[in-house]
Amino acid sequence: MSHLNNEPLSFAYWVPNVSGGLVISSVEQRTGWDVEYNRKLAQIAERSGFDYALSQIRFTAGYGADNQHESVAFSHALLAATEKLRVIAAVLPGPWNPALLAKQVSTISHITNGRIDVNIVSGWFRGEFAAIGELWLDHDERYRRSEEFIRAIRGIWTEDSYTLRGDFYRFNEYSMKPKPIGGTPQVFQGGSSRAARDMAARVSDWYFTNGNTPEGLQKQVDDIRAKELQFGKGWKTKIGINAFAIVRETEEEAKAVLKDIIDNAIPDAVKGFHHEVQNAGNSSPEREGNWAKSTFEDLVQYNDGFRSNLIGTPRQVAERIIELKRSGADLILLGFLHFQEEVEYFGKHVIPLVRELEAQEAGARVAAE
Ligand SMILES: Cc1cc2nc3c(=O)[nH]c(=O)nc-3n(C[C@H](O)[C@H](O)[C@H](O)COP(=O)(O)O)c2cc1C
Repeated sequence: MSHLNNEPLSFAYWVPNVSGGLVISSVEQRTGWDVEYNRKLAQIAERSGFDYALSQIRFTAGYGADNQHESVAFSHALLAATEKLRVIAAVLPGPWNPALLAKQVSTISHITNGRIDVNIVSGWFRGEFAAIGELWLDHDERYRRSEEFIRAIRGIWTEDSYTLRGDFYRFNEYSMKPKPIGGTPQVFQGGSSRAARDMAARVSDWYFTNGNTPEGLQKQVDDIRAKELQFGKGWKTKIGINAFAIVRETEEEAKAVLKDIIDNAIPDAVKGFHHEVQNAGNSSPEREGNWAKSTFEDLVQYNDGFRSNLIGTPRQVAERIIELKRSGADLILLGFLHFQEEVEYFGKHVIPLVRELEAQEAGARVAAE
């Protein structure tokens, strides 16, 4: 089934609010995790045609990533430094209570002219939960909790008097004021297990998945479309896919950078990460989902970003982005080795080509009709 639509693709970048960059490698990464670096990066990104910035939520180091700035406060700093960029704040049910998040985000929407969205993370890092004394739930229970969390924040944002008798959360004729401005903040979620896809097909606005081939992505999108119909969702879940982009003037140069990253991978840290992510997809009942089949090489990038193969010349990368769009992607989420420099380069050399190819595709469709 082709999923190609006429909407222009959206572009997002990972906010490096966690130290160590996005690859577990000792290769040089000219990427900072501090506030100043990130403010400038956000400004470059919005000038370069990026629509969204996605922050990360992490409470503790495990295998590198020694420093982690909190995501909602950090997102606010980026919004204050920009004018158009939307920032997606990542939050973890458990440490966050839906009443608090709904209110925080509503206030931030008033401060920033409605540019804040949220990414509801279900969790996979058991050591992190233990470190902060959070109850560890089984894989599918984590998604049951996240789903209730999403229903709750949406209910609070949209209803005058919100009541919920859930297994995890309770609300009694709660009337939160003020409501967010600029429309209801969009709800993103990560994960690709059965439970993650079902949650997306029931309640989320956006589904984020790890790096993948166009075929691998298409299978997930087909599944979500079928489940949306079955659950009677009534609106289409939008799809975002992760990719680690290495765009250089020649394909050889880009491939050499990838080889350098892999050759300098930090084996103990990659193995530590591999151990931790067994609590994601592999611990789901069907043993599918994020990281369930990731190789050592895949895991050098936290979210299997090499698999999307945005590694080559601007033209090669733009063409592969269009293939991901044909497989159902609405948004490409990007990580880079040297964020400020490469976000700018991507905006200058890749996004315009993607727009050209999108216009050609749209023209071809009109001609065929
Ligand atoms: C794009 C994306 C962003 C994510 N961001 C975070 C994050 O900031 N913090 C975190 O702990 N987990 C994050 N996750 C992990 C997911 O929320 C989820 O716990 C994990 O992917 C489990 O996958 P599964 O459903 O396949 O088991 C992210 C996942 C994706 C795909």
